[in-house]
Amino acid sequence: MEIKKVVVAGGGVLGSQIAFQAAYCGYDVTIWLRSEGSITRTRPKLASIRRSYLEAVELMSGRDPLGNWCRGIADMDNFSKYECLENIELAGEKIRLELDLAKAVENADIVIESVAEDVAAKTEFYRTLAPLLPKKTILATNSSTLLPSAFEKFTGRSDKYLALHFANTIWKNNTAEVMAQPKTSQAVFDDVVRFANSIRMVALPVMKEKPGYLLNSMLVPFLLSGLDLYVNEVSDPESIDKAWTLGTGAPRGPFQIFDIVGITTAYNIVQQYQKVPGLFSPMLRKMMLPYNFKEMEKVLKKMIDEGRLGKSSGEGFYKYE
Ligand SMILES: NC(=O)c1ccc[n+]([C@@H]2O[C@H](COP(=O)([O-])OP(=O)(O)OC[C@H]3O[C@@H](n4cnc5c(N)ncnc54)[C@H](O)[C@@H]3O)[C@@H](O)[C@H]2O)c1
Repeated sequence: MEIKKVVVAGGGVLGSQIAFQAAYCGYDVTIWLRSEGSITRTRPKLASIRRSYLEAVELMSGRDPLGNWCRGIADMDNFSKYECLENIELAGEKIRLELDLAKAVENADIVIESVAEDVAAKTEFYRTLAPLLPKKTILATNSSTLLPSAFEKFTGRSDKYLALHFANTIWKNNTAEVMAQPKTSQAVFDDVVRFANSIRMVALPVMKEKPGYLLNSMLVPFLLSGLDLYVNEVSDPESIDKAWTLGTGAPRGPFQIFDIVGITTAYNIVQQYQKVPGLFSPMLRKMMLPYNFKEMEKVLKKMIDEGRLGKSSGEGFYKYE
């Protein structure tokens, strides 16, 4: 099926990014929001995303673009600043905000659900949405930690429901993990892979349900392992990072990553991911049993209380200019 009309449900951090990216790539996009208050909160988010795209294009057209390249915005080998700026301008006109759910999803080809990461909120949303959706509509969830099979029965379209998981700042981190649940049809899976690629994401197929998808299944244990070495006073952040970067050639170690994603997110990872069933394989879970999660929370909470929130605040595990 050719996807033309895109609806994003929820205009939060990720919903507004997905909507802007799809509009930047030429789609007509409707963002469904549940209240006037959400409209007031979503408009400045879209304006700020637009500024980020403009800044990114400036950096990409500068003298040393390599480290600043945003693959969600353009390819390096056929970059046209003019085209990018035009797409950014047009994106604004292609996004419509709508409070009426029935109107929002009228004739939708795909609805990307990006409402709060809360089982009750998502269930209620699907129950309301199901009778309003056209038969053809594909429904995708952007949930980070909840599995689509938990909601499939509320969607009224088991074969057309799956997960499409984006990364924060999608214009830079342009992966889209496409994850099927047992009843998703292959044709729908393929349509969503094509759609994700068409909005300049690199679609990564996840053929069966896996909490944490591909990235977080690897990244979270890695980050927690680094943090555990530190809180148990085995070594200091800089040396742990060097062990990783010099030892493997990877560009960043766990503490450099924590500083970029922010210490508040790091704190949430430590708290939340221990509870996600199935994120860690039985072997990993066994290996992590002796990890000192309480001490990890304590160290990160102290940093948050002291305002050391990571790179964005000028200091996290490292100090920044
Ligand atoms: N923030 C991230 O880095 C990130 C990355 C990938 C995926 N996600 C996923 O995207 C989804 C949204 O996350 P976010 O970070 O944008 O959250 P957010 O809190 O910024 O936005 C949530 C949106 O959902 C709306 N909402 C809340 N409760 C609702 C309800 N009961 N009914 C309808 N709408 C409701 C809010 O008004 C808001 O527009 C979550 O499933 C999350 O796991 C987030």
